[in-house]
Amino acid sequence: MKNIINVGQFSKEELLQICDAADYYKTHQSKVLIDKTVTCLFYQPSTRTFVSFIAAAQNLGANVIPIQGVEYSSVAKGESFEDTIKTLSLYSDCIVLRHPEVGAAQRAAEVSEVPIINAGDGIGEHPTQALLDLYTIRTEKKQIDGLHVAFVGDIKHSRTIHSLAKVLSLYDVKMSFVGPEELSCEKFMSEFPNSEYHEDIGAVIDKADVIYMTRVQKEYHEPNVGMKLDTFGRTKTYDYKITKELMVKAKSNMILMHPLPRLQEIPVELDKDPRSVYFKQVKNGLFVREALLLKVLGKDDE
Ligand code: NCD
Repeated sequence: MKNIINVGQFSKEELLQICDAADYYKTHQSKVLIDKTVTCLFYQPSTRTFVSFIAAAQNLGANVIPIQGVEYSSVAKGESFEDTIKTLSLYSDCIVLRHPEVGAAQRAAEVSEVPIINAGDGIGEHPTQALLDLYTIRTEKKQIDGLHVAFVGDIKHSRTIHSLAKVLSLYDVKMSFVGPEELSCEKFMSEFPNSEYHEDIGAVIDKADVIYMTRVQKEYHEPNVGMKLDTFGRTKTYDYKITKELMVKAKSNMILMHPLPRLQEIPVELDKDPRSVYFKQVKNGLFVREALLLKVLGKDDE
């Protein structure tokens, strides 16, 4: 595997191998990337994805070039995206890229001398997040087939939903998309003919095995889209959330997921609920990204 651009590249067999490799790296240390350099180039804010890729590369012995403020690079002088990628690829063995435009990772792969890993391309895809989400579901629920997964929130703009739903469509999974109508997306949801759309989380709360919450992706909204006028004419952001009361109605073995960062949609008081697994997702990201770095750098058989 040269690049990781979207989840469509992975067969079920490969997904299984990556999950097994992540399991292995949970308990084993290896410095097989000692002669490799991994560049993390992020044009958009990030905490978990940026840091977990750096930690994963360092755990495997690689050197890391972290670039999180492109305003301090020649991008600020007007250098093209392609020239930036080409240049960094001459100093690295792999580039992990986050960028606000859909298709940026593919564009980078076309000029890069080394593999590109898509760490989020606008509202497009976030394949490495989908793999860590799949790994978390497998670890917590033991199997994927037969599950009912409800995606809640900003269906239209959440790249984490876009990638995970595509991965889950390889399995016998029932999917529900839940959220305000303005944030739903007919075109995307129609890719999953057996899925359902609901405006109200109450429609799925007692049926879902996995509830996958997301934040309103306000950075992608047109000014004032994503804002509703309340009865006093004031603007008000969407305030859908999962509450303690809803958790009482949910299955006792349901798992509550979120790619994070969370805003109002999961109150902190739910962190203590054993069904809340979002910080397990954070930790799993490290092992899955170790497995992925090894795969693109051709060291996955060592
Ligand atoms: C997500 C992203 O960047 O798409 N964050 C992440 O990588 N864990 C979700 C988000 O920003 O809401």
